[in-house]
Formats: sequence, structure tokens, C-alpha cells
Amino acid sequence: MTATTVLRSEHDHILAMIACLTSACKVAEKVDGFDAETFRAGLDFIRNYADAWHHAKEEDLLFPALEAAGMPRQGGPIAVMLSEHELGRTYVGQIAKNLEAATNGDKSALQIVLRFTLAYADLLTQHIQKENNILFNMADQILSPEEQARLQKEYKTVVPTNANAKPVEYYEGIVAELCERWSVNF
Ligand SMILES: [Fe+2]
Ligand SMILES: [Fe+2]
Repeated sequence: MTATTVLRSEHDHILAMIACLTSACKVAEKVDGFDAETFRAGLDFIRNYADAWHHAKEEDLLFPALEAAGMPRQGGPIAVMLSEHELGRTYVGQIAKNLEAATNGDKSALQIVLRFTLAYADLLTQHIQKENNILFNMADQILSPEEQARLQKEYKTVVPTNANAKPVEYYEGIVAELCERWSVNF
């Protein structure tokens, strides 16, 4: 087990949620097809599980450890990952801003929600591929066993900072529920 194992498992949950949201986007184009509950649950998951919890572990613990081990913060993979986290936040902001109006039947708000949900899904799918296949492999090579052990211990202390965040088990349960509902294999 390495310091990236835990993050790879969180990626699996994020990808499963993205698959559910992508299915929900396709159905939302049909008459009465917009399932606001799935989008509300997805937004809550993305903000708290994916961003305030998973990205916090990368930004506050893994990336600084990689820098300390010699990986530059500027001009390398860390800079790309950070800018993609930030871009994801702008997409999520658009979804959040328009979700209530979309739920109330505003068609242009619905189009914005769908457009940015699909953009987020695309961004995070590619982002996770880069982390899983490139950055995390580099991390596993340059971090010492002591660093790996320290990171694994410190990950356990990370809690989402948002006041309305629910426990991690709740979010993993929601992924399982939505996978059932949207016939996503997970
Ligand atoms: Fe990331
Ligand atoms: Fe990640």
C-alpha cells in the first residue's frame, strides 16, 4: 500500500458519480427527464467529497510532499493539477448558480447545468487519468517509505471544511445508490 492507494480508491468513487451524472444529463434532455435530486446529490458530492476532501488531501498533503521530494510546483504536473482543480471549481459554481432555476423549469438554466456538468465530467475524467497514470506513479517512485507512511496517517485527519458536509460514508453510500438508479457498474 502506498500514499496514492487511498486517493486512487477515491478516484473510483468520483468516476462512478461522474458516470451517474453523465447518464442523468442524457435523460434530462427529454420531456420531464430532469432528475433534480440526482444533480443536487451530485453537486453535494462534488463539493464536499471530491473537492473539500479528496482535493484537499492532494493540495495540502500529497503535492507539498512531492515538492519537498524535488518535484517543481511551477511548470510541471503539480501546476497542471492545481489549475484543473480550480477550473473544476468554476464549472461547479455555474452548476450551483443555475440548479434551483433549472429545478423550477427554467430551460436556459437547465442547459447551463447540463453543459457544465458534462464539462466537469470530461475535465475530471481526464484529470484522474493523468493522476492515476502519471503523477501518482511518479509519487510512488520519489516518496520514501517514511513519507508514504506519514501521508497515509495524515490523510485520516483530513475532514471537509464546509460546515454542511456530511460524513464520508454518507457520500460513498450516495454513489452506490445512484449507481443502482442509473445502472452504472461500480
Ligand atoms: Fe487532483
Ligand atoms: Fe485526484
